[in-house]
Amino acid sequence: MSRAQQRRGRIAVFASGTGSNLQALLNYAGQKVFATVDEDAVGGSSAGAAAAGGSTEAAFTGAGMVCCSFEVALVVSDKPACAAVELARRARTQVFARRVADYVDKPSYERAILQMLVAEQIDVIVLAGYMRLIGPELLQAYAGRITNIHPSLLPQFPGKQAIADALAAGVDETGVTVHYVDAGIDTGPIIAQWRLGLAGASTVAEVAKRIHQIEHRLYPVVVDQLVSDRLCSTDRLAEGRSEDGYGEGSLGDEWLAEGRARMVRSTMKGCDEW
Ligand code: GRF
Repeated sequence: MSRAQQRRGRIAVFASGTGSNLQALLNYAGQKVFATVDEDAVGGSSAGAAAAGGSTEAAFTGAGMVCCSFEVALVVSDKPACAAVELARRARTQVFARRVADYVDKPSYERAILQMLVAEQIDVIVLAGYMRLIGPELLQAYAGRITNIHPSLLPQFPGKQAIADALAAGVDETGVTVHYVDAGIDTGPIIAQWRLGLAGASTVAEVAKRIHQIEHRLYPVVVDQLVSDRLCSTDRLAEGRSEDGYGEGSLGDEWLAEGRARMVRSTMKGCDEW
């Protein structure tokens, strides 16, 4: 089956903060972000995507991306007032934005999320700056179907201060890791990594900017491939193994280049040739 014939997978993006990775995923999927509510009435503006912080290179809008294997069908946040939620609303995705404190306990909170995931027929959960550990309720229901992106070359520097920790340790390089999510803190099987040399870098802000640039390119391509594979072979992702075709801890340059070439091709020509 060609890509153009596949149904699009439905992903839920979990975010607690700025949402720049959410923006990159929306851009890649060709989902418009409207600049203001008023603009809805006149059909919206593609300027919204750039205004919302998406990278220029990935700021694709319009119908040209129908070949991307996924759509962002739901955004989940534990911080109802965060920028990611605002972005999700402007992109007209379904939103679940509730605090854990609104529920009697975390399992109840996750059961409410699960209800929404099931109602929205979500295939894959994509964590993008979601600042909570995923509990057993969601881990069991979505075993091997939850990914995260982390700003270090795991297993080095897990946790919330990964960039600062890398700088403090004086390492020559750091990077970005996409991995499956398990019960630990950034411990799940690695799917893809991208290196970033630290020569000349001195501040966290400077490195964070470069890390984000990598993330915005890497994550959509990896999610696209994972969802596409899942739609073709439903049990590969469900098994959640690191040795399922991507190798352990690296994403070949060739594979990434192909992914990026696909983005460019699909933007220029639409999806027919996929
Ligand atoms: C990213 O750097 C990601 O690696 C980490 O959280 C950050 C989220 O950034 N898990 P944003 O909210 O997507 O801008």
